[in-house]
Amino acid sequence: MEFSPGLAGVPAAKSKISYLDGLKGILEYRGIRIEVLAEKSTFFETAHLLLFGKLPNRTELERFTEDLISHRRIKYRITDLMKCLPEGGHPMDALQAAVAALGMFYPAKDVQNPDVQYISAVRLISKLPTIVAAHARMRRGDDPIIPRDDLDHAANFLYMLSGRVPEPLMAKVLDTCLILHAEHTMNASTFSGMVTASTLANAYTVVSSAIGTLMGPLHGGASEEALQMLKEIGSVKNVRSYVEGKLAAGEKIMGLGHREYKVKDTRAIIVQRLAEELFRRYGGSLLYEIALEVERVAAPLLSPKGVYPNVDFYSGIVYEKLGIEQDLFTPVFAMARVGGWLAHWIEQLKDNQLFRPTEIYEGSHDVSYVPLGQRS
Ligand SMILES: CC(C)(COP(=O)(O)OP(=O)(O)OC[C@H]1O[C@@H](n2cnc3c(N)ncnc32)[C@H](O)[C@@H]1OP(=O)(O)O)[C@@H](O)C(=O)NCCC(=O)NCCS
Repeated sequence: MEFSPGLAGVPAAKSKISYLDGLKGILEYRGIRIEVLAEKSTFFETAHLLLFGKLPNRTELERFTEDLISHRRIKYRITDLMKCLPEGGHPMDALQAAVAALGMFYPAKDVQNPDVQYISAVRLISKLPTIVAAHARMRRGDDPIIPRDDLDHAANFLYMLSGRVPEPLMAKVLDTCLILHAEHTMNASTFSGMVTASTLANAYTVVSSAIGTLMGPLHGGASEEALQMLKEIGSVKNVRSYVEGKLAAGEKIMGLGHREYKVKDTRAIIVQRLAEELFRRYGGSLLYEIALEVERVAAPLLSPKGVYPNVDFYSGIVYEKLGIEQDLFTPVFAMARVGGWLAHWIEQLKDNQLFRPTEIYEGSHDVSYVPLGQRS
């Protein structure tokens, strides 16, 4: 048996959902280039594409949109559950707990049934922003804000966070960021969700598994850390010594590098364009100037190794400009990636096989049982 740590390079599924060529910087959802979706699509439409394999026609989009909007509200018991959580806890833990609890309110055992799949997907995509926003407000002592049916997905989320209807550009930028983060082939959180899905657990349990996996700093947590790093650098003139010092100490620069991309992440280029659009309208950002300088200083040192900015490098700067708190970046990532997780859940169930890998045992055999009193 050949052992591949982290299952690196081991195909864990056959999939038609997304495609990534990290040498050419190509990312496609169901064959459509991410640049095209970012420019022309919406998060709802993209979610439909991922889940059901095609862009919706007008009737399908109207029904999907109506269903998503009508399932935004969360039961007061879910709100009460979150009220009981410590206000200093990470919002991803609150999100995972609330999503796991959703499954108790909406039993959905018949996971192979397309109607159950549809309604579970609709509930999860529509309720995640409500949960994230409600927890964000309650932890600072404010009441949650009831979702508004007349606002689109991103605008409604920003409204539920702040109580103010955002300007259309802000909502549009967030909607595009959700598209960019909605899916990314086989990755740790998707795999985690698929392992859970393979046991025929319901969609709420699948998504709560994936949320738990997304939390770690090696996965979804990177944009929070990249922004923190830019804040620590503090000014453009500190960049060179910071970058050179880190590299001399053999440490990584957060937001640079990617296991798959060996060129600049296409999504980072798109996020950068969005950032510049925001700055033109609402004024510049020192953190963006610092980030540009980090990219410039790091380029000659790291590009020979194929290390360039990834999507997380610039997305935190955009989220901050939208008024989203730093520890909500990963929950926002989950609000987007739920589309991809659920698409893989549905695909997995079409030809399900329980994930049950093997291991290489390296322990002892025939060890004698030592009575308690005689143990060292
Ligand atoms: C994402 C990441 C784990 C990918 O790692 P990987 O593909 O396994 O690449 P490696 O860690 O093998 O790196 C290859 C080389 O590039 C260097 N490198 C990779 N990312 C780097 C970074 N962010 N800063 C400085 N050097 C980096 C490594 O030190 C290594 O150098 P060496 O060959 O001289 O030892 C890594 O780039 C990283 O930790 N980035 C920072 C965290 C981050 O932004 N994560 C979000 C990913 S979406």
